[in-house]
Amino acid sequence: MGRVVVKSLPDMKQARNRTLRPSLIREEVVVPPLTKAFAEGKTYHIKTFGCQANVRDEEIMSGYLEVAGFKRASSEEAADLVIINTCAVRENAEEKVYGEIGKFKAHSLKDPEFTLAVCGCMMQEEGAAKKIMSSYPYVNLVFGTHNMPNLLNLLEEHLARKKDLIDVISFPGDIVENLPSSRLDDCKAYVNITYGCDKFCTYCIVPYTRGRERSRAKEDILKECEELVKQGYKEITLLGQNVNSYGKDFKDGTSFATILEDVAKLGIPRLRFMTSHPWDFSDEMLEVIAKYPNIMKCIHLPVQSGNTEMLRLMGRRYSREDYLDLVRRIREKIPGCALTTDIIVGFPNETEEQFLDTLTLCEQVKYDAAFTFIYSPRKGTPAAAINDNVSDKDKHDRFDRLLKVVEAGVMSHSKEMVGKTYDVLADGVSKKDAGRLSGYTESGKLVNFPGPSYLKGHIVPVKIVEDHAFSMIGELQVDPIIVLLDDAAQKLSREEASIRFKEAMKAYREDESVAKIRDDMEDAQKRMMECASKSDDEGYQKAKNEYMSLADLYKKHPVVANLAAAESELEPLLKEVAEILE
Ligand code: SAH
Ligand code: SF4
Ligand code: F3S
Repeated sequence: MGRVVVKSLPDMKQARNRTLRPSLIREEVVVPPLTKAFAEGKTYHIKTFGCQANVRDEEIMSGYLEVAGFKRASSEEAADLVIINTCAVRENAEEKVYGEIGKFKAHSLKDPEFTLAVCGCMMQEEGAAKKIMSSYPYVNLVFGTHNMPNLLNLLEEHLARKKDLIDVISFPGDIVENLPSSRLDDCKAYVNITYGCDKFCTYCIVPYTRGRERSRAKEDILKECEELVKQGYKEITLLGQNVNSYGKDFKDGTSFATILEDVAKLGIPRLRFMTSHPWDFSDEMLEVIAKYPNIMKCIHLPVQSGNTEMLRLMGRRYSREDYLDLVRRIREKIPGCALTTDIIVGFPNETEEQFLDTLTLCEQVKYDAAFTFIYSPRKGTPAAAINDNVSDKDKHDRFDRLLKVVEAGVMSHSKEMVGKTYDVLADGVSKKDAGRLSGYTESGKLVNFPGPSYLKGHIVPVKIVEDHAFSMIGELQVDPIIVLLDDAAQKLSREEASIRFKEAMKAYREDESVAKIRDDMEDAQKRMMECASKSDDEGYQKAKNEYMSLADLYKKHPVVANLAAAESELEPLLKEVAEILE
């Protein structure tokens, strides 16, 4: 591989290391010169696989690229730079990546400037980077999850040395703040609260690909959320592989419950969080969720298995009974709370009886949604070393049976919804029909309903009229124009600028000295007109001079100056409102 410079390769032993303390780095983005010149007039496309952590990484990489001068491409075919952001959680996620890289061969051969990079969790596995570089000679850059803040420098080195590069470090990870970001959605946003994972469930690769569990400072999280509220975002999802662990590393009493409450108080209309581990779900968390109406009553609570022995072998730290007890506590404290889950079937040596425990647990809990997976051995994890006696056929058979039970539970919730009206955050417009919207209820149900595209980004009442397996059909219960008017009125009454304007106006109306100047100005104007009609030039000039000095006094009067400042501050808001109503 003479064309490839290997700067660093991943090492699973290093990835397990939890001794190094994370540093807090406040990033200052500097665009290196060759990258800046290269980016001019070029476009990028990022193709992301995997979970929300990867989606958020895509937004941050987009931020870096846009600071450098790249623009988002209209399609992947049109892009000059493509980054494939990979997931390693299961074998099939990895197979998809190889297929994806292959798609860019022709483009790369045709255009020597075309740049292809592969990054993300899969690159953190031993062997993956080298395999990609040797099997796909048109890949120019391979980097890992910890190298992301170095994206522009890596690109610079590739351009300067005219070499392809592999740079994948394995270390517990730092916390990098002030990251640039270009968000993919303008009404729903993800906000990281923790990075990494220290749980080391025996089947899972994530603790190796994402490093140690580390929390972002509360102030940094709140600043990011505040900004989103100001920008008019309607939903924030707080992200972490394990949100319940938030703040434990600070050892100062900070907990997930405290940050959840602080964010809820910022007034974002919808607040979600994921993922919660059933092991350390506190009562304090339940109380906060129950207390704030803007915290969505919907908890993703991965059970993985319904059998205590399986859970022990998986390293999950709770029993079937513990889990069911938590479900009971949730339903007691938060009536009607939706529950969703992740389940793995066919963990090594899972018996039929153990699998049946998962089925009965699902029947009992009746999840609102469940993501079901067949166990996939991940090299380097403890479970991958276990000799497995369950055949592929049995695993698939169990998977199909599980799906039926899960579907029955999901359907029972859907049926109950028919005829009732729910708030839906309209976040999508049908590609085929601009008169059709889609969005989610508080419990995470997808609803399709007829409605004008300008309602995108609004929370609207929708009556469910039909249920389908994984989505519902609804009818809008409000006149769309009323929604817009409400929005404009709310905007005007909420915005600080309009409050300041109202106060400045009140002071202006009540100030006697301003009223006196205004009267005197009117007087002088009258005299100017009289003198003009009598061709009294001298009198006219005198009255005009008087008027001019009064006008100057008026303009400089603090109450008037304050009103003018408030007016110009209000202007952009009025424009925004006019746009809403257009
Ligand atoms: N941190 C989250 C999610 C991690 S990955 C959590 O703990 O819930 C998302 C899901 O992928 C997991 O919940 C698990 O159900 C599944 N998963 C992880 N490793 C897997 C493996 N080796 N094979 C099959 N499914 C796996
Ligand atoms: Fe993986 Fe377990 Fe950590 Fe979730 S909690 S990311 S399943 S190791
Ligand atoms: Fe996949 Fe990495 Fe997320 S392995 S599930 S993208 S943390």
